[in-house]
Amino acid sequence: MKTKAAVLYEANTPLVIEELDLDDPKEGEVLVKIGAAGICRSDWHFMAGEAKTALPAVLGHEGSGVVAEVGRGVTSVKPGDPVILSFVSRCGRCHFCTTGKPNLCDLHMATSTTMLDGTHRLHKGSTNYTPLSKLACFSQYSVTPETACVPCPTDLPMDKAAVIGCCVTTGVGAVVNAAEVKPGTTVAVVGCGGVGLNVLQGARLAGATRIIAVDINEGALEFAMQFGATHSVNPSQQDAEARVREITGGLGADYTFEVFGSGKTVEMAYNMARKGGTVTIVGIPPDGDDPSIDAVALVRQEKTLKGTYYGSAQLQVDMPRMVELYQTGRLNLDDLITRSYRLEDINEAYQDLNRGEVGRGVIMEF
Ligand code: APR
Ligand code: ZN
Repeated sequence: MKTKAAVLYEANTPLVIEELDLDDPKEGEVLVKIGAAGICRSDWHFMAGEAKTALPAVLGHEGSGVVAEVGRGVTSVKPGDPVILSFVSRCGRCHFCTTGKPNLCDLHMATSTTMLDGTHRLHKGSTNYTPLSKLACFSQYSVTPETACVPCPTDLPMDKAAVIGCCVTTGVGAVVNAAEVKPGTTVAVVGCGGVGLNVLQGARLAGATRIIAVDINEGALEFAMQFGATHSVNPSQQDAEARVREITGGLGADYTFEVFGSGKTVEMAYNMARKGGTVTIVGIPPDGDDPSIDAVALVRQEKTLKGTYYGSAQLQVDMPRMVELYQTGRLNLDDLITRSYRLEDINEAYQDLNRGEVGRGVIMEF
């Protein structure tokens, strides 16, 4: 069949909207009609050449849709089922899948530019197109692995389902699964965009009492107050590390999170943590932009420095929990989504992201 998609041919050039050929789903695969796709910074990293993949590629890893057709052997979904798309597919057999860390599936990572079997479904002429994260949801239709499909309730709007597919699960999961924030503690969040806002509301959910939003964009700081922030700090206007110490009684925060993706902001999050505190890195810095961390201070101050990928989540279990939290009013996804776009306007949507428009933008028309 044909599908209209946004294609990245070369870093630092606009995405091109065009019609591609999409193969039928193979065994263990599903054809999904995309319902919504989020404008996440992780895709921008590829557009800006800060992260690499094989080009041309169809990006889009924060999505939802409705199952249109299933390949042989698919049992967990059927045509007509609404699904949240997971940007990691499980093989179910590798060390990580079998030890409770399916977000780190070896086969998924080893086949990062193709489907799980090493082949492509998107083509034009003799050219194969990389399906980013095996989702490629900046497209009308996508063929995804069955294990990328997480069934969701029919009354869950597609835009809410899409954001649960990345920024909600990544942000809330970083707090509850990776850092394991305890009630009554202090939290600082560096970078309060789509993902950071969910770290903030995850911290509120976990019972943190002082929740400090750190961002260079005043609009983002103001917006953050709706998502649980109790204090805001702008590093372009004040010594942010000193201010966080001041707010936390001279100690530094119990938990800090980096949610932008740069060496400098990782250092900032590290320095904002108290002795014995936990520093969790969520953002993905450009290749080569590494933080400088003092190893002696790490030892003497007993800090814990950890990374978290996809909210360290059990996706098939944690995503339905995010749906429950939204539907029972504990997670605010209504205000999180601030803009909707047509697929044709995707380059403008990324300009808005980089201009610092607050909240999350979502493509709703394909
Ligand atoms: N200090 C503090 N905040 C900063 C800084 C800085 N030096 N530079 C940028 N920011 C803020 C921006 O103003 C913005 O509010 O970081 C925020 C980033 O938000 P988005 O652009 O919406 O990015 P998001 O989609 O949330 O992704 C953040 O998480 O999953 C990863 O790959 C993703 O690395 C990216 C990160
Ligand atoms: Zn994302």
